[in-house]
Amino acid sequence: MRGGRLELFMAQRVALITGGGKRIGAATASLLMNNGWFVFIHVRNSVAEAEEIISQFEQQNSSKAPAEILRADLNNDGALEALIQTICEHDIVKTNGGLHALIHNASIYSSEDYESVSLENLRLNNRIHIEVPFLLTQGLLTQLKAGQGCVIGMIDTSLGRAWKGLSQYTASKAGLRQLMMNLAGDLAPEIRVNCVAPGAILAAEWESENFASIVEKVPLGRAGEPNDVAKAILFLLESTYLSGQIINVDGGWSVSP
Ligand SMILES: NC(=O)c1ccc[n+]([C@@H]2O[C@H](COP(=O)([O-])OP(=O)(O)OC[C@H]3O[C@@H](n4cnc5c(N)ncnc54)[C@H](OP(=O)(O)O)[C@@H]3O)[C@@H](O)[C@H]2O)c1
Repeated sequence: MRGGRLELFMAQRVALITGGGKRIGAATASLLMNNGWFVFIHVRNSVAEAEEIISQFEQQNSSKAPAEILRADLNNDGALEALIQTICEHDIVKTNGGLHALIHNASIYSSEDYESVSLENLRLNNRIHIEVPFLLTQGLLTQLKAGQGCVIGMIDTSLGRAWKGLSQYTASKAGLRQLMMNLAGDLAPEIRVNCVAPGAILAAEWESENFASIVEKVPLGRAGEPNDVAKAILFLLESTYLSGQIINVDGGWSVSP
């Protein structure tokens, strides 16, 4: 991005959200844009969906969207490095005082009997939920410090519970949770680090049949909306005395008996 277009966004805080093309990530990207943020919408495959977020903003606001789509397969070392480099060298990051938010949202989620989980699947869960947040935060540290940024890890409400067929997923999300809590100490005082733990928001395709029975256990009696999660993210980004916190966005599910 060069020249005139960049000048449009000079006063804006800058966020990167991984896996931001669809679902909760898309709702978050839109909410941030509508609240004065410039958003790097990272995607792997969901380019068309991310373009739709941008065109919706432009139709609703009759102005250029404060966003740019960045594509990378986070399971590829070279692609992750290139993503980091693109952000570090980006004009808007240099001009606007660094990176103000980094949201580790990209995720994989599938159910499989423990006996048959492959090493490859286990490593992919650990890669996307632990290694990538570790390396991406590390690679963007200078920019996050410059922006007095906030890092957010998207975890879930599985901690301490036995979720059938999900050990590879829940163990890696527990790792992300602990990584974020550790970094809240390591990176203070320049960078704040928090987590958002959604409950039953949007079913994965494979769990749509079970979803109604999950929602029955939610005290508020309904599934959450992607925007409910996005609002918690925005709240953490804007609450400059909050670090090391986890917000459960789950309609009370995590405290139900
Ligand atoms: N949905 C829920 O009810 C729920 C409940 C608890 C926790 N959460 C957490 O909240 C966050 C958002 O949930 P969600 O359901 O909206 O997420 P999701 O649809 O499962 O995944 C978000 C994005 O992750 C990206 N991704 C996956 N593998 C990738 C890779 N190798 N490289 C780059 N990107 C990759 C995909 O991007 P592309 O589409 O571009 O390929 C995908 O759209 C996740 O961290 C999830 O664990 C959600």
